[in-house]
Amino acid sequence: MTERIREFLRTRREDGPCLVVDLDVIRENYGKFARALPETRVFYAVKANPAPEVLKLLAELGSCFDTASVVEIELALAAGATPDRISFGNTIKKERDIARALELGVRLFAVDCEAEVEKIARASAQVSIPAAEVKVFCRILCDCVGAEWPLSRKFGCVPDMAVDVLEHAHRNGLEAYGVSFHVGSQQRNTESWDVALASASAIFRECAERGIHLSMVNLGGGFPTKYLKSVPAVEAYGEAIFQALSKHFGNRLPETIIEPGRGMVGNAGIIEAEVVLVSKKSRAEDEIRWVYLDIGKFGGLAETMDESIRYPIRTEHEGTPTVPCVLAGPTCDSADVLYEKEPYMLPVSLEIGDKVLIEGTGAYTTTYSAVAFNGFPPLKSYVI
Ligand SMILES: Cc1ncc(COP(=O)(O)O)c(C=O)c1O
Repeated sequence: MTERIREFLRTRREDGPCLVVDLDVIRENYGKFARALPETRVFYAVKANPAPEVLKLLAELGSCFDTASVVEIELALAAGATPDRISFGNTIKKERDIARALELGVRLFAVDCEAEVEKIARASAQVSIPAAEVKVFCRILCDCVGAEWPLSRKFGCVPDMAVDVLEHAHRNGLEAYGVSFHVGSQQRNTESWDVALASASAIFRECAERGIHLSMVNLGGGFPTKYLKSVPAVEAYGEAIFQALSKHFGNRLPETIIEPGRGMVGNAGIIEAEVVLVSKKSRAEDEIRWVYLDIGKFGGLAETMDESIRYPIRTEHEGTPTVPCVLAGPTCDSADVLYEKEPYMLPVSLEIGDKVLIEGTGAYTTTYSAVAFNGFPPLKSYVI
């Protein structure tokens, strides 16, 4: 918790949970990424926190932007990024959205199959932009072992197929630009990039044999933020990635980009919430307590799904005896339970009306919050 956030919350009088994001922390995080991987361009993953103030700061610092939709592209442009600093990194796009992105000046697109390549080729013809000016990179599958929020099989293709997809792009007149992967979000193993880079270099070689010379490796996101467990520093990731790049590409290092989301903004945000109810389900002595907050899965804490992300929670009773509690949100949906399989240790003295601080919530919270499920408003956000 930074002094600025503490001061902001001290004077806040409004009701309801809120997220407070400290821009100074994001400035510091950007500097750490830039220093840890000095030859690599940073494409901030807008999905992590698209608050205009966050995007404006990052644009001023020189960041590029990884976007998932036309709306995110427009947000990045409004924040001051030029289109050459924006990539459309979603592998699942409507053809008309690709055309709109092209009209807005974006020239860098992710694909993971031939059908998506064809959409990009058709869209560029439709808006009269020479296909040769449009760059595509092919995303490959990653096993995501070691990631607390794995990105599964939904995105990417096997490396062998990536060669065909890139050749297809080349035959369609597009620039087959490179390879991307994502080692899984909140990836605590710095070695995870090694296997993916081995595949990327094999794709570079195979493409070269087919007369296609790739330029770029997109190393994705995955850089963690600190929740309950400790995580390696950004410098350790920079070092491990540099070693893996050298091992697999020798002295012909490709152009590289990273797409940090969580690692850029996670630790910059704190949610202040309130205890609505503390209860038990029976009078038995050993009966576990239930603590209900005014925020839950539908209010922005969606990443507690399967209890994947365990946020640090602070109360005003620090240092007093604790008991295991089931922690739940306020809505009338029984899926709205945050931690039950592994109950959360909270102070015995925690009472109805107490404030709690949920740390590390700068990423993947506001945009996950429902508009009005059960009549609760979306999570408020203040960027200071
Ligand atoms: C294409 C892409 N890039 C980057 C990210 C950001 O990942 P992280 O928040 O783990 O840094 C994501 C997250 O879903 C993604 O899908």
